[in-house]
Amino acid sequence: MTTSVSPAPEGRETWTSNRGFILAAIGSAVGLGNIWRFPGVAYEGGGGAFLVPYLIALVTAGIPILFLDYAVGHRFRAAAPLAFRRMWRKAEALGWFQTAILFVISTYYAVIIAWSLSYFYFSFGTKWGDDAKTFFLSDYLKVGDPGVSTELVGGVAWPLIAVWGLIIVILALGVTKGVEKLNVIGLPLLVLGFAALVIKALTLPGASDGLNALFTPDWGALTDLNVWIAAYSQIFFSMSIAFGIMISYASFQRRKANMTSSGLVVGFANSSFEILAGIGVFSTLGFLAHQQGVGVGDLEGITGPTLSFITFPAVISQMPGATLFGALFFGSLAIAGFTSLISLVLGVSVAFQEKFGLSKTTAAVTVGVVSAIVSFALFATTTGLIALDTVDQFANNIGIVVSAIAMCVIAVWLGRTIETLRGHLNAVSTFKVGKWWIPVIGLYAPIFLGIMLIQKVYDLVQNGYEGYPTWYVGVFGWGTVAFLVAFAVVFTAIRWGGRDDSTFAPWPPLDSSATTAAAAGKEAVR
Ligand code: ALA
Repeated sequence: MTTSVSPAPEGRETWTSNRGFILAAIGSAVGLGNIWRFPGVAYEGGGGAFLVPYLIALVTAGIPILFLDYAVGHRFRAAAPLAFRRMWRKAEALGWFQTAILFVISTYYAVIIAWSLSYFYFSFGTKWGDDAKTFFLSDYLKVGDPGVSTELVGGVAWPLIAVWGLIIVILALGVTKGVEKLNVIGLPLLVLGFAALVIKALTLPGASDGLNALFTPDWGALTDLNVWIAAYSQIFFSMSIAFGIMISYASFQRRKANMTSSGLVVGFANSSFEILAGIGVFSTLGFLAHQQGVGVGDLEGITGPTLSFITFPAVISQMPGATLFGALFFGSLAIAGFTSLISLVLGVSVAFQEKFGLSKTTAAVTVGVVSAIVSFALFATTTGLIALDTVDQFANNIGIVVSAIAMCVIAVWLGRTIETLRGHLNAVSTFKVGKWWIPVIGLYAPIFLGIMLIQKVYDLVQNGYEGYPTWYVGVFGWGTVAFLVAFAVVFTAIRWGGRDDSTFAPWPPLDSSATTAAAAGKEAVR
């Protein structure tokens, strides 16, 4: 073990450099959320006007909570459960709640990557034919009514085996040799591939109509609370914050790490990619509208899976150079998804490694295999698409929002560690976090997110979800929320095995500024 790879006291691996950390964090942030979620959410949320709630959400919750994740992960050097426990003993349950969210999201996220791999292959010869909708729903996914099916879809299962196999291998290789290398290779590939796609999309006839549709503001949308909810949810999911990912990534940073400046780079890169995806997708939709002689606003299916796997294939078939465009789009989707999936599963794997004193390989194989089984059983069957849609809705709009509120309340009010965390960030970073951070985390974020949460729960209770049967929403939607809570309760209750944490000491401050010294003085690992 060399000091360059393991300078942390516990022999913990580290990123090889700050650049390695930033690449991995951008790889995690830029994912399916940027490509298949953002363009549709922005369009439905008022087009150009959506940028207002989006930027407000970025500044008032995205960046502040990203800093909070970084501070907790870097100071307490562990995945969410142990990091929160070290911060305030009673907060361990929040760490397991976040780990449960990671686990749930990873099980369906992997399936969307499997679809992308299939469609990458289908791009060669545009195998979806003239009716992309029938191809996706009937020929490829063999979708049935909402329910529980045990019938595996072969076309999904094979690429899914490859996805989980690769995830286990990369996790077993570790943070430096596995995760960092994946991002060092994957991220430039993604940027090149996606930039080529956007340039091609911008040259299509009708592209400007698509961009007008995306960026022409509908200011009326700003009075709709649901648009604000969509903006905040998008920011959390897209920046990979408030559900444990950035805590575990920051925990592998060295002692001397410029955390806040890295955070600003990651936030900027993620939002830039999101806007780029909006430009690429809407230029392409402008082309579709042009071909059909209709307005972009009259097109249907411009959100989520429908956008990527029905509308896009239909457009691709009509363009010159269809194979190249299809391969670039689905290849980008697969790479962006994969560099995010690795961060989701790493968070779960490290949490179990730490709780049960497991080796990196044992944790990677155990977590990978269990997640893969759930992934196959729930989402690679003929009812997988509907299950995925329902679980995604509840895990994101309820799970992540509850987690964000709890994190803010614990850091500021219950655990009272916010000054320590601010001192820590300022001791290691060049961009200093001002006192503004504390009311944002302690008041604005929990109050605003609390209102959002109440509105969302009310809406789901009153109206159900997507017209699915009540029993179905109960089992797969509210059942997901119940699972997150049960997971947190059970794993918090289990005794810690294989770890004597009494010798842990947070990274010592790097300078002796007043803030830092005061913060360090108050520090106690409770
Ligand atoms: N941040 C990841 C995404 O946007 C999870 O898809």
